[in-house]
Amino acid sequence: MQRFLPDAGDESLADVYADLTLPDAAARPYVYVGMVASVDGSAVVDGRSTGLGGAADRAAFRRLRETCDVILVGAGTVRGEDYRPPRAPDDVVARRAARGLAARATIAVVTASGQLDADARLFADPTYRPVVVTSAATDVAHLADVADVVRCGEVAVDLRLALERLAARGAAHVLCEGGPSLNASLLRAGLVDELFLTVAPALVGSSPHRILDGALDAPVELELVGLRHHEGELLLRYRVRRPAPPTGGPPAGGEPSR
Ligand SMILES: NC(=O)c1ccc[n+]([C@@H]2O[C@H](COP(=O)([O-])OP(=O)(O)OC[C@H]3O[C@@H](n4cnc5c(N)ncnc54)[C@H](OP(=O)(O)O)[C@@H]3O)[C@@H](O)[C@H]2O)c1
Repeated sequence: MQRFLPDAGDESLADVYADLTLPDAAARPYVYVGMVASVDGSAVVDGRSTGLGGAADRAAFRRLRETCDVILVGAGTVRGEDYRPPRAPDDVVARRAARGLAARATIAVVTASGQLDADARLFADPTYRPVVVTSAATDVAHLADVADVVRCGEVAVDLRLALERLAARGAAHVLCEGGPSLNASLLRAGLVDELFLTVAPALVGSSPHRILDGALDAPVELELVGLRHHEGELLLRYRVRRPAPPTGGPPAGGEPSR
């Protein structure tokens, strides 16, 4: 793999993001989104993301999981990709322990409807207890034996509150694995700090999903802080730029802008 940013050099696939350091966000966990898309912007091929990524994307995906306390994911992705608990081979457990992390990240599924199958693979491991994030209005009684239910908001799910509740459970770093609806909700609420995007060397054509499905109030500006290349795949790391705080009105007599 060739690395161009943060500095130029060669890197083995096994080392991608091995030394990843993530800051702590002040009032809530630090949130980083990990996604893959085709060159023409599709987040799926044949309805899933798995057909898009190659070896570099898989290496990055594993490393991002290694650095988080919680994997936050929308119910659509859990249903569509038949999520299961994270794997915990000895080397991963050892590297997570060195970072002070539990052997396996906790998967937290966001759902408004509560329509998650208690018999799904995600809930089938008696040694692993996922979290279901929903609102007070949603009936999730069928999940009570297989998951911890965290209720945030009366009718709609309050994602900021959800992150605060996850922080209260010890989460400092939350990896959001999508999907596109959850990504848009988080961005709209100003709750995303970084985006790790793999651009796969493929064109998909018409697609039901991009990496964001949902309107934003305004374009979100990104700063490119990482760029890697491996056999056509581009691994991009972007930091979300925060708007500067207001300074008491526009400057007088400035240059006209477009
Ligand atoms: N390319 C990639 O990297 C990537 C990554 C992930 C997913 N995907 C693909 O994306 C597709 C799924 O897209 P999607 O938009 O349906 O995914 P999604 O965001 O995972 O799921 C949407 C569902 O999640 C819940 N949800 C999301 N945001 C919510 C919010 N703010 N409040 C309450 N509930 C919320 C709702 O669940 P309920 O319906 O239960 O209320 C909603 O219907 C799949 O084809 C998957 O393969 C691609």
